[in-house]
Amino acid sequence: MAYKPVKTVVFPVAGRGTRFLPVTKASPKEMLPIVDKPLIQYAVDEALSAGADTLVFITGSSKRAIEDHFDSNPELEAVLQSQGKQELLDLLRGILPSYASCVYIRQPAPLGLGHAVLCARPVVGDSPFMVHLADDLIDAPVSCLKQMVEVFREYGGSVLGVQEVPKQDTDKYGIVTLERMVAPRVGKISHIVEKPKPDKAASTLAVVGRYLLTPGVFDDLAKIGKGAGGEIQLTDGIAQLMRREPVYAFQFEGKRYDCGSKLGYLQATVEYGLRHSSLGKDFADYLKNLAATL
Ligand code: G1P
Repeated sequence: MAYKPVKTVVFPVAGRGTRFLPVTKASPKEMLPIVDKPLIQYAVDEALSAGADTLVFITGSSKRAIEDHFDSNPELEAVLQSQGKQELLDLLRGILPSYASCVYIRQPAPLGLGHAVLCARPVVGDSPFMVHLADDLIDAPVSCLKQMVEVFREYGGSVLGVQEVPKQDTDKYGIVTLERMVAPRVGKISHIVEKPKPDKAASTLAVVGRYLLTPGVFDDLAKIGKGAGGEIQLTDGIAQLMRREPVYAFQFEGKRYDCGSKLGYLQATVEYGLRHSSLGKDFADYLKNLAATL
């Protein structure tokens, strides 16, 4: 089947972010900065680099800041202009290219990731689309979603970004089992299970927040009931889709930071800080001195 090009990305951002309370009480976890950019901007940049032009945010309460971030701010721009701060002005205006459209859909209740993705159906229609979980920050020479678009072009089925995780962590992820490898980093999936206990998990290959899905998954998401944790799970929808279509696991090139955990967030902050163009050297000196005192 020939699919339309992949132009739409879905960002499920309705989650409450309870692991980061109190900072997430009144502001979205997706607005947590890694050095000087919020997580959701890294997410948008990745999707744009993969060819997206339609950005669908599935939002919930306390998420206004995300809309404001991707909107223009004429008052702030006027102030910067009057102060001659052209560089900052360019920085603000460069947050979103003019060809990109943002669509905000409110998820009426926190019914799960699968339900959040289903909320995007009226915008996505019958095209393949990407799903990006901003908690999973992936640093890669070629963006993870761009790598996945290439795999999709080659094999024509849905593609899930996967990574090996420690055995004791399988109950935090969708875990896949492969039927066979079709390329060094691409395997056809035979099973996918949401958050199996370590003693029940058939493998340690975990889905890490990047999906390129064919639109057929919407029919499945509309039919499946509640799964793990009493929520409508994207993983369960994909398991149903696999009965009709091949679904591939892709071991992308790149380093993933679990910014849904405080430790992963701090690791990302330190490593992105060290690589920062104007800050990196001073920060490295500081860390070296600090390490000497530990
Ligand atoms: C979600 C998915 C899970 C996936 C994970 C990746 O879980 O349900 O299958 O492995 O994201 O981060 P969550 O982290 O929202 O509990």
